[in-house]
Amino acid sequence: MSGAQTLTLSMLEPDVALLTFDTPDKSANVLSESVLTELETHLDALEQRADLAGLVIGSGKPGMFIAGADLREFVASLQVEKSKIAQMCRRGQTLFGRLSKCPFVTVAAIDGICVGGGAELAIWCDRRLLSNGAKTEFGFPEVKLGLYPGWGGTARAPRVIGLGNAVEMITGGESVDAATARSMNLATDVVPADQLLSAAVALIRDEQATGQFQRDRRRWSEPLGISETELGFLGATASAVIRGKTKGHYPAPEAALEVMLEAASTDVETACQMEAEGMAQLFGSDVNAALLNVFFLTDRNKKEKGVAPSSAANLEPTAIQTAGVIGTGIMGRGIAAANLRRGVSVVVDDASQEALVRGAQAILEEAAYDRELKGPGSRRLAELAPNLRLCGADQQWAACDLVIEAVVENLDVKRQVFQRIEAELPETAILASNTSTIPITKMAETVKHPERFCGFHFFNPVRRMKLVEIVRGEKTSDETVVSAVAHAKRIGKLPIVLNDGPGFLVNRLLFPYMSEALALLAEGARIKDIDRAAKAFGMPMGPIELYDLVGIDTATFAGQVMADAFPDRIAASPILPAMVEAGRLGKKSGLGFFNYDNKRQRAEPDPGLEAFLAEFVAAERKFARDELTDRLFMPMLLEATRALEDNIVFDARDIDLGLIFGLGFPPFKGGLMFWADRIGAAPLLERLKPLERIGPRMQPTELLREMAAANKTFYPSSH
Ligand code: NAI
Repeated sequence: MSGAQTLTLSMLEPDVALLTFDTPDKSANVLSESVLTELETHLDALEQRADLAGLVIGSGKPGMFIAGADLREFVASLQVEKSKIAQMCRRGQTLFGRLSKCPFVTVAAIDGICVGGGAELAIWCDRRLLSNGAKTEFGFPEVKLGLYPGWGGTARAPRVIGLGNAVEMITGGESVDAATARSMNLATDVVPADQLLSAAVALIRDEQATGQFQRDRRRWSEPLGISETELGFLGATASAVIRGKTKGHYPAPEAALEVMLEAASTDVETACQMEAEGMAQLFGSDVNAALLNVFFLTDRNKKEKGVAPSSAANLEPTAIQTAGVIGTGIMGRGIAAANLRRGVSVVVDDASQEALVRGAQAILEEAAYDRELKGPGSRRLAELAPNLRLCGADQQWAACDLVIEAVVENLDVKRQVFQRIEAELPETAILASNTSTIPITKMAETVKHPERFCGFHFFNPVRRMKLVEIVRGEKTSDETVVSAVAHAKRIGKLPIVLNDGPGFLVNRLLFPYMSEALALLAEGARIKDIDRAAKAFGMPMGPIELYDLVGIDTATFAGQVMADAFPDRIAASPILPAMVEAGRLGKKSGLGFFNYDNKRQRAEPDPGLEAFLAEFVAAERKFARDELTDRLFMPMLLEATRALEDNIVFDARDIDLGLIFGLGFPPFKGGLMFWADRIGAAPLLERLKPLERIGPRMQPTELLREMAAANKTFYPSSH
């Protein structure tokens, strides 16, 4: 055992013991190897005592029961042999299983987060009491990491809460709140946090009097008693739901379903064995490693301040109480709503009075959006309305700590806006632009305080896309960056910090991929095959359909900017301007590469497209799936190595965060650079060989060659 103890034993009453989890110096309680050993030692001693009526397990941290297993320990053991994995599961199952066999009643008293391994520990107890606190949640999120509960969760949960509930919780990975837990018998009762311990003692007395816990122990160790027909029905419906969500890319939910169905007709001990054996297929798999990587990427991002640690130490972010948003079009609305929703007062303005009034309404509705209502909640609307002000006079900018400009993409217009606003802004305020294509340094040339100016680039739709690119102009100060990063996090976003350059990061990597799709089309590849190759790789939609979503006019404009910046590798295809001219603007006009003139506005093939494209495309040619995949993703990867070479991005891990949260790059691949590392730089060079004749866009960069020669990876070897 190392360091300070996590578990403390005390007595609630002479015959009722309390084990309190409280990991020293951490905000969360996690189940590390040493904590499991502590628990084991305590149980060894407690089980010997004849004087106990009950044991309560609680936490010393308000709002936090147990957040799960120690994932850093997990990562360290990813490479272990399969037989070892089953043993690791058996260890947890046996240890937690003792909670269902102790010579006294066991009760988990849960206030706050109880997930993963914590939920498994709790479900092995005879009873669970949940607090009605806002933070209380109970869940098995393991599938989000490519795993399923392996310390007995899949064996025990179906027996305690019913197979249907267990399948939903374990294969979906979403937590339930206390009231839902109560309704499925997961919680015996829900009480205020400060009454948890007294309620637990009362419950123990009650159980001892009725002996109900003993009957439940027997029942929950047996087979489930569900007919084959019922099992078949549940299996078929659950598997259809899972397939619909995972598209076959994430094996864990299906493996969880399978093990729960198969183990339904066995006793709990056999169910545990099956669970442990099945886990060996998931633990350490590529998907598991990739999803763990995504977890660590986001975790690292939470801690990063946006500048080198040596500078960060002396910098405190400026608190943003009031944010200004100028331009209430598509983006300005989303940006204003994101601020408002997180308690930031917002001042908005637009050149068009009509756009301003309509925009304000849309901002409030979006900020008050309630997922359950599928619309704005009226109470929330009333709460938020006073925090949104329409700018009546420029003096109102004086109240702002940050102003984000989201007006039309035109340098002169933006410059005029900055000039007007800057005259009113307080000395400490930050001025930022949401531009997609105009260089930040160029815009900064005419502002009074270029050190307090930066790019604050959101993605569309703002509500769904978590990424924000914070772009440094040449003169942007560290202080400005630290404040912008802190503010982006405050409003629920994932910021990555970049140096200025065409397309910043995400669009710079998107366009080589998008324009390659058009090159393939011109060479005679079928649209269906191009889009399918991208989706089979894991992208949420194919590049051709994405053109329609972005809008052909917007894509033409942005594509031209990229083609001007990187003429050796991005060619502006003649297809796009021809489409714009023909009014084929994509989804927004009902017709682009696909036809959207149907009830659900879905992309359907357009019978007229072939004739329209005839002058631009060669005769149809069959491409192998692998060729399509490499043609689409190698230009993206090579561009990423150039962005690193050019010092646009400082760490390969930011590229992965950017692509996953800004583009929907498949999390099960762990990110573009993580994927490239799995392949290795030298094999990548081999894969590029047959493509090199296509031109510079397919030729290895200096960085990739050096990495291959030195056998290096993009990620640091231990992260
Ligand atoms: P939009 O056309 O929907 O909205 C622009 C708004 O700015 C309009 O309401 C217009 O009336 C207003 N406006 C024009 N001139 C103005 C002025 N001088 N003062 C005040 N308001 C003025 O445009 P959208 O799509 O919201 O784009 C805004 C900015 O965000 C652009 O810089 C664009 O490049 C950038 N952006 C757009 C994304 C997108 O997907 N639409 C994604 C990321 C960035």
